[in-house]
Amino acid sequence: MPVREMAKVVSNSPVKPGYYLMELDAPKVTEEAKPGQFVHIRVGRTMDPLLRRPISLYDIDKEKGILSLLYVVVGRGTRMLSEIEAGADLDIMGPLGNGFWLPDRATRCLVVGGGIGVAPLLPLIGMLDQAGLEQKILYGFRNANAVVGIDVVQEKGWPLAIATDDGSVGHRGFVTDLVKQAITDFKPDYYYVCGPEVMIRNVVWLMKEANIPGQVSLEARMGCGVGACLACTCKTRKRTGGQQSVIGGQLSVAGHEQNFDYSLVCTHGPVFGAGEVIFDD
Ligand SMILES: Cc1cc2nc3c(=O)[nH]c(=O)nc-3n(C[C@H](O)[C@H](O)[C@H](O)COP(=O)(O)OP(=O)(O)OC[C@H]3O[C@@H](n4cnc5c(N)ncnc54)[C@H](O)[C@@H]3O)c2cc1C
Ligand code: FES
Repeated sequence: MPVREMAKVVSNSPVKPGYYLMELDAPKVTEEAKPGQFVHIRVGRTMDPLLRRPISLYDIDKEKGILSLLYVVVGRGTRMLSEIEAGADLDIMGPLGNGFWLPDRATRCLVVGGGIGVAPLLPLIGMLDQAGLEQKILYGFRNANAVVGIDVVQEKGWPLAIATDDGSVGHRGFVTDLVKQAITDFKPDYYYVCGPEVMIRNVVWLMKEANIPGQVSLEARMGCGVGACLACTCKTRKRTGGQQSVIGGQLSVAGHEQNFDYSLVCTHGPVFGAGEVIFDD
């Protein structure tokens, strides 16, 4: 059950230029938190900016009641967040959204992240590890300056390969090159992916070709974060049961999906079954 909590900022420091790690003492949100969920943060003390900003849970320490967030400064809200000092109170709502779930039968999972999209994957990797599933982690970044979120993965010795567009770290090229290789070498029977939409689409396409099921974690611009404003829709295949989507629709273009729903990234997601999402727009 999501709650609103005044969290105490334990630390908020740059991990490299433009990228920050914030630790929050937030026992109520932490108690309920699951991998893949997010918090909705009021970044200022006035009405401006009005909207909260969604940030994924990067680490969940249930014993200490501490949440960690890994974020990149892209605009005013995240800039304001980066200026908050240790000791301040921060108004958060969470945990929000549906997180990752364990596969029914799979044993070998590929975890694919791109850019700051690696942030929600750390708790997932811990969950897969605890469940005794074999995993291979593939992360893609623009260049060495954008490489984040790998310290814990490396400390724990989880198998990680990195691709950078310019080859400044790891494989030179896209993370999808590593995915293609892993389909052959590692032979995953399940996958998880989070990152820029173009990367997600390409990974989903490759995995679909190889007939491997998985889950995707999506991003969308958000308003309320709780399913009330319909700001965060994404197109999904019609569901026959389970979660209800908001608005049904018909696509008239021949050869495309005939029936679809608009699902909400904030409440139906951010994690969806890879086969649920329609990426054709
Ligand atoms: C479920 C979810 C989890 C997220 N988790 C993280 C995280 O762990 N770490 C992190 O750094 N960021 C995360 N984001 C993205 C983060 O919410 C946005 O970067 C932030 O809201 C931007 O606010 P701003 O005021 O700084 O930028 P704005 O001034 O609002 O926008 C500046 C630029 O950023 C782009 N932008 C804004 N919001 C988004 C978004 N949601 N997705 C893609 N581009 C956006 C805008 O198009 C614009 O170009 C997450 C988003 C969602 C929906
Ligand atoms: S952000 Fe308001 S419905 Fe999703």
